[in-house]
Amino acid sequence: MAQNRYDGGLVVVLGATGVQGGAVLRYFAQESKALSHSFRLRGLTRDPTSDAAQALSRAGVKMVKGDLDDVSSLHQAFEGATHIFANTDSNRIMWDATRHPEYLAQGQSPAEYGAAIEKRHGAKIVEAAAAVPTLRRIVYSGLASPRRWSEGGYSKVAMFDVKEEIADMFRARRELQRKFSVVMVGFYASDAALMPEVYAPEKLLDGHYEVAMHMAGDVPVPIADVETDLGNWVAALFQADPGVVLVGASECLTWQQWLELWGDHNRVMTTYRRASTDEVAPGTEDFMRRLSKSLNSSRRSDLRVEWITPSIRHSFDQWASQSGQHQS
Ligand SMILES: NC(=O)c1ccc[n+]([C@@H]2O[C@H](COP(=O)([O-])OP(=O)(O)OC[C@H]3O[C@@H](n4cnc5c(N)ncnc54)[C@H](OP(=O)(O)O)[C@@H]3O)[C@@H](O)[C@H]2O)c1
Repeated sequence: MAQNRYDGGLVVVLGATGVQGGAVLRYFAQESKALSHSFRLRGLTRDPTSDAAQALSRAGVKMVKGDLDDVSSLHQAFEGATHIFANTDSNRIMWDATRHPEYLAQGQSPAEYGAAIEKRHGAKIVEAAAAVPTLRRIVYSGLASPRRWSEGGYSKVAMFDVKEEIADMFRARRELQRKFSVVMVGFYASDAALMPEVYAPEKLLDGHYEVAMHMAGDVPVPIADVETDLGNWVAALFQADPGVVLVGASECLTWQQWLELWGDHNRVMTTYRRASTDEVAPGTEDFMRRLSKSLNSSRRSDLRVEWITPSIRHSFDQWASQSGQHQS
């Protein structure tokens, strides 16, 4: 990072207590220390008293209370910002709605319900960011839209589509056009620990471990060591010209390769099996089918995509060694 790049600056991070925002803040907290605290850090949370928020405060981040539903709290959080990292999320809202179908409008799926709220959050971030005269760069954590890239073929992966819709709102806002870039984060290296019901290998009766997913096992997918690499990617986007879409991949692996590495680290035998549609749990069948189709699609986006230099990549193998990631 160039000396003085952030001199007198203020980096504001949304989703500060989460996997992504927390990793970005911890990266910049180290940078700030290395640069004699020549720039400041601010993180948004709904609860500054939480353990995660307190830990960030101890690391030198000014944690402020705010809610993505409350645009006035965003105006306050963005006051004086020179750089913003923005993340939005509908996964938790969607899973909540699967347990509370009474939240849903007639004919609305949990994914559509969550995406509508996420889009509302995105609109408020755009509105607040556009009003910050000091802002130099804003990086949004997006995802590619299956609906767009399949030209309507896969129309129900709302939690991915909404990220592209939010990115479009940023691009359409005149005040932000020369300030905005996107990072598309790959599958977290930690997903098996964070979402074991989807990604964790399952021990079978004969003692070996199996992953049965509704995705092709031999198609490489981007894997991201978020804690180690996301801060680097965001810093690179803060320094680059705007208008970049960067795929955040520490390494590209097929699920079969991922599983072999996982087995090596845990010293167990593993097999990958492509689950049939019939096996997928009732109610998630459509979601999983369309998600897997979109991920396995051979279509290529013509977005400007740049790969970060190999020197800052952290392989899944390194991640597994250092995280002590063992059988879940
Ligand atoms: N898992 C993967 O492999 C993967 C890969 C690429 C992208 N993604 C995407 O990453 C996103 C999730 O990011 P993450 O893993 O960092 O999430 P996370 O760890 O679940 O954290 C969510 C964050 O959002 C904040 N938040 C939630 N609702 C809020 C609201 N109304 N106002 C203000 N802040 C709010 C929370 O802050 P407080 O609770 O402190 O307020 C928390 O910091 C998802 O949209 C997912 O699609 C995931």
